[in-house]
Amino acid sequence: MRQKLVAGNWKMHGDSQSIRELLTALKPAVAESAAEIAVIPPLVYVPLCADLLAGSSIALGAQTVSEQRNPGAFTGEVCADMLADSGCRYTLVGHSERRSLYGENDALVAAKTEAALAANVLPIVCVGETKEQREAGATLDVVGQQIDVVLSTLNSGHDKITVAYEPVWAIGTGLTASPEQAQEVHAFIRTRLAAHSAELADTVRILYGGSVKAANAAELFAQPDIDGGLVGGASLDAEEFAAICNAI
Ligand code: G3H
Repeated sequence: MRQKLVAGNWKMHGDSQSIRELLTALKPAVAESAAEIAVIPPLVYVPLCADLLAGSSIALGAQTVSEQRNPGAFTGEVCADMLADSGCRYTLVGHSERRSLYGENDALVAAKTEAALAANVLPIVCVGETKEQREAGATLDVVGQQIDVVLSTLNSGHDKITVAYEPVWAIGTGLTASPEQAQEVHAFIRTRLAAHSAELADTVRILYGGSVKAANAAELFAQPDIDGGLVGGASLDAEEFAAICNAI
C-alpha cells in the first residue's frame, strides 16, 4: 500500500518571517493527516525550516540538486550530500520550470536523479507535457520518454523515486487537469513502471501537480493511480495547504 504524499513546492517565495508564520500554522493543522507531508522551500531557507520542523513529521525537500556528486569548482551548485546534511529527505528533479527556463533536458534530469539517490536523497522526478504537445496528441509520447530516460539510466534505486505528473499547461494557471485526464496519464506512467518491473509499479508513488487546491484535491486524490500531490501556489497558504493535506 503506497502512503500518499503531499509536497508543497514554495518555488521562489517567502522570507524568514513569512516562513515562520506558515510553518507555525501548518504544523498543528496537518497533525492528523493520513498523508506524508513535505515542504520544499527556497534552498537558503532549508536550515531555518529544519529548525522549525524539528520534532515534526513534516519532511523537507529541495527544489533542485546538482548532478555533480563530489565537491568541486561548481559555482552556484549544491550537491545531494549537502542536501542530506541539511535535513532534506526529498529533492525535486526536472521540474518544468527547470526544464523550460534553465535548459534541463532528460539526460540531465536522469543524472540529477542518480546523484540524489547516491546520497540517499529521494528524488521526485517531474514530468509533463506542454499545451501544444497535448493539443498535438503527444502527451503519452512525451511523458513516456521523460520517464523511460530516467528508468533506463539508473543502475539501481528505481524503487526510491517518486514521479510527479505536472501538465505544464496546468501549472500556476488555475487550469487543473480533470481527475479523468490526470488518471489517464497516471495509469500510463504506471504501465511504464510495470514495463521495468511489476513491483516497481506497485511501489512508486505518482503525484499530480498543477493548480491543486482544497476545492479539487479530494477528487484528484481519489483516483486509483494518484498517490498525492505536488502543490505550488496553494502551499503558500497554511490553511489552504492543510485542507489539501487533509483531503487524503
Ligand atoms: O511544483 C508545483 C507545481 O509546479 C504546481 O504549481 O500548484 O502553482 O500550479 P501550482
